[in-house]
Amino acid sequence: TDYWVVVPAAGVGKRMGADRPKQYLPLLGRPLLSLTLQNILSWPGLAGIVVALSAEDAFFSHLKEANHPKVHRVVGGDERADSVLAALEFLSARESGNTPVLVHDAARPCVALGDITALLDREVSATALLARPAGDTVKQGCDTGGATFVERTLDRTQIWLAQTPQRAPLELLRNCISQALNQGAAITDEASALEFFGHSPQLIEGQSDNIKVTHPSDIVVAEAILRLRYA
Ligand code: C5P
Repeated sequence: TDYWVVVPAAGVGKRMGADRPKQYLPLLGRPLLSLTLQNILSWPGLAGIVVALSAEDAFFSHLKEANHPKVHRVVGGDERADSVLAALEFLSARESGNTPVLVHDAARPCVALGDITALLDREVSATALLARPAGDTVKQGCDTGGATFVERTLDRTQIWLAQTPQRAPLELLRNCISQALNQGAAITDEASALEFFGHSPQLIEGQSDNIKVTHPSDIVVAEAILRLRYA
């Protein structure tokens, strides 16, 4: 079945301290978002991509992929969830409610096709996400008198770190995000919006090279991964 991909790319990227939002920082001489879109456009069964952009975005129209017939754009919102919701509303006006949607961070250009195939497998739940089992021992902290101490050690075998893409049927995801936002829930990924209403998305183990470019050093790592991939 065909599926749509939503790419939230409306962040202003303050953490990077650069002169432009991080989705436009150069990797291997190309804007990060351009590499992410090129990767997505290579996935079999793709119906189209909806990219959520800031209203002030001055970079997107210069990307090679900007005028690709499968690439659509919407204006995003204040938070990542608002941006995703804007893209889902665009899709709702055009597609049936059970259309599978994959939400994928602009900042994850390295996700491998094998991970996408695993997430879209017919045996996998309609709500699912790529995630990594925790590799480090996980401590829950507690702040006391200006310092932080261990409250407890969590059972690492049950801890997963969420990646993207995260998949769900269009109308289910739109309803959950919209109602969770209305109720003031903290929504940091799509799965958390589904969980807020009692759904239990399936965890699909992804590869460790699906990194999110967050800090300047991540750019060097992502370039090395992409060089290996496209060599
Ligand atoms: O800042 P962080 O890395 O968590 O952002 C994840 C993704 O969400 C980025 O691709 C960013 O551009 C996007 N985003 C958005 N709208 C916002 C804030 C972030 O689309 N208001």
